[in-house]
Amino acid sequence: MSVPFLDLKTQYNQIKDEIGSELTEVLDTCYYVLGPKVAAFEEKFAEIAGTKYCVAVSSGTAAVHIMIWAADLQPGSGIIVPPNTFTASVEGIVLAGHVPVFVDVDKDTLNLSPEKVKSFLESCSADGTPVDPKTGARIRGILAVDLYGQPAALPELEKISERYGLLLFEDACQSVNASRNGRPAGSFGTAAAFSFYPGKNLGAFGEGGAVTTNSEDIARRVRTLRDHGSREKYIYDFIGHNYRMSAFQGAVLGVKSRYISQWNDRRRDAAKRYNELLSGLPLVLPHEDGDVRHVYHLYAMHTPERDSLREFLSNGDVASGLHYPLPLHTQKAYAYLGYKAGDFPVSEWNSSCNLTLPMFPDLTQDQQIIVTEAVKSYFSQKG
Ligand SMILES: Cc1ncc(COP(=O)(O)O)c(C=O)c1O
Repeated sequence: MSVPFLDLKTQYNQIKDEIGSELTEVLDTCYYVLGPKVAAFEEKFAEIAGTKYCVAVSSGTAAVHIMIWAADLQPGSGIIVPPNTFTASVEGIVLAGHVPVFVDVDKDTLNLSPEKVKSFLESCSADGTPVDPKTGARIRGILAVDLYGQPAALPELEKISERYGLLLFEDACQSVNASRNGRPAGSFGTAAAFSFYPGKNLGAFGEGGAVTTNSEDIARRVRTLRDHGSREKYIYDFIGHNYRMSAFQGAVLGVKSRYISQWNDRRRDAAKRYNELLSGLPLVLPHEDGDVRHVYHLYAMHTPERDSLREFLSNGDVASGLHYPLPLHTQKAYAYLGYKAGDFPVSEWNSSCNLTLPMFPDLTQDQQIIVTEAVKSYFSQKG
């Protein structure tokens, strides 16, 4: 029996009727863009993220871009970001007219390391003003990424941001309904970005995203920027974009958000079971901080034999993934920033040996046994 990396169909079959009637309502009203379904979802999602405001947009990439854009930092500001993330985190910084400043991650959580951020800022703040030594950009922000479903060390990063007068942004695209110290992902710092790409924990039936914030000002700016900068129809105070969410996605997300907490509980159970079934093998299993609710968007383990293990699994019809195979500071797209291999050893280690296993709420115990037996046979046939 093969095991897929992700199974969207089983989940769809469980909520088919609810989804069907919501989509029919959209069809009947012919309200296809924004409108009541999107507004109702925004209200529900603000509750999930524990913020006063949620503004739905067209994708997670749009969300990262627009939240930084809405903060109205001086053009060309430096924004600290980890190199082991999906490219959209860094694209958002560049699209908003700023300069990515890479700082390495923590070896356990693979999230931005507050210690490394602190010592980097100390090293480049001769007169109290942090300036990126590589590009000369004045540093004005931090974009922390909640990788794999585990919120970054956001309380520590909030303190560092306050000390240096920086804005803290959260890329929570992989961590819907996660929390740290009881605070939901999306509720830290100036604003947070979420993705509802179909494969995410809360997935639309197409593209979708959202910005959450407690700042009325940021929420108002995001709302305006997502709709061409228009405060009323055909009246423009500034140039915006078309980042509006489709009503169909708002309707789907409204239904799915009722289930997200229980789906994430099932992911957490599956991660625990993987940990038990894989214990004792020469693998680095995922680290979960004590004060977090990790929602396992991805179950990532590490081994120097990643490539041969992956091939072995694939030959046995067990799917797996790489998140991510090449850290961003070594990619051609970011070569203009002047980094080189060796600059961020933990991110490079992660890229060289991470392997992500099938993970979704409906993953069965039998499927987990097939996956873990395949991993075990890889190591036992090696002797
Ligand atoms: C960390 C991170 N940031 C941003 C994004 C971009 O989201 P989207 O694919 O919805 O544009 C993703 C999604 O893959 C992501 O994982």
